Amino acid sequence: MPESLWKGWALAAGLIYRSSALYELAMLGLYGRHYPSRYRAVAGLIPPRSSVLDLCCGPAVLYRRYLRQKSVEYTGLDISEKFVRDLTRRGVHAEVWDLRQSDPLPPADCVVMQASLYHFLPDPLPVLGRMLAAARKQVIVAEPVRNLSSSKLPLLGPLARRLTDPGVGSQPYRFTEGGLNDLMLSLGTRPPRTRLISGGREKLYVIEKSQAGA
Ligand SMILES: C[S@@+](CC[C@H](N)C(=O)[O-])C[C@H]1O[C@@H](n2cnc3c(N)ncnc32)[C@H](O)[C@@H]1O
Repeated sequence: MPESLWKGWALAAGLIYRSSALYELAMLGLYGRHYPSRYRAVAGLIPPRSSVLDLCCGPAVLYRRYLRQKSVEYTGLDISEKFVRDLTRRGVHAEVWDLRQSDPLPPADCVVMQASLYHFLPDPLPVLGRMLAAARKQVIVAEPVRNLSSSKLPLLGPLARRLTDPGVGSQPYRFTEGGLNDLMLSLGTRPPRTRLISGGREKLYVIEKSQAGA
């Protein structure tokens, strides 16, 4: 590979996680007019004044634009020190947390993970188990089922995976809708409520905690 291309490739690692603005720009490009509806769909499920634990919160757009006005008690967890530092500066409660570790999660009424479960492939069951253990009322998962990273076009897939490397290596796996359905049905809970959101890009699952212990 020529040196300039090699330098560009090195710079691309985790690029969209380097700032809130870059992240939002990339998400806007990806979701277009459906961008706000992906957060609205999740926020609409969360009752006012609940406690909310948002896993892999990134720049916490869900809270800053859609949940703050509901007076929820919010905690965001993310592996990115940069995102957490920016959130703390903005007065948002957030902590650096590597969710691959097996530490129990802080309890909350609603435990949310949006567009991030793929980071835990090939074995997302441990993190889902910790989410179920931490949730008092509901677990909400929204996950992309149409992915650029799975593209067969030369370079596009590898580039998308490179851009979304959170600093621990690029993640080669993404969910298909069928694979995600199978996973959610394997949790030992009653079948979650589910629907497609964000113009069909993401699939939303809601597990009520009263249904969780099978
Ligand atoms: C695609 S972003 C989603 C951000 C936010 N949930 C949203 O939908 O706007 C994925 C986030 O997962 C975080 N992440 C990746 N691996 C992680 C890990 N092992 N532990 C905690 N956070 C992680 C990244 O830093 C990034 O902020």
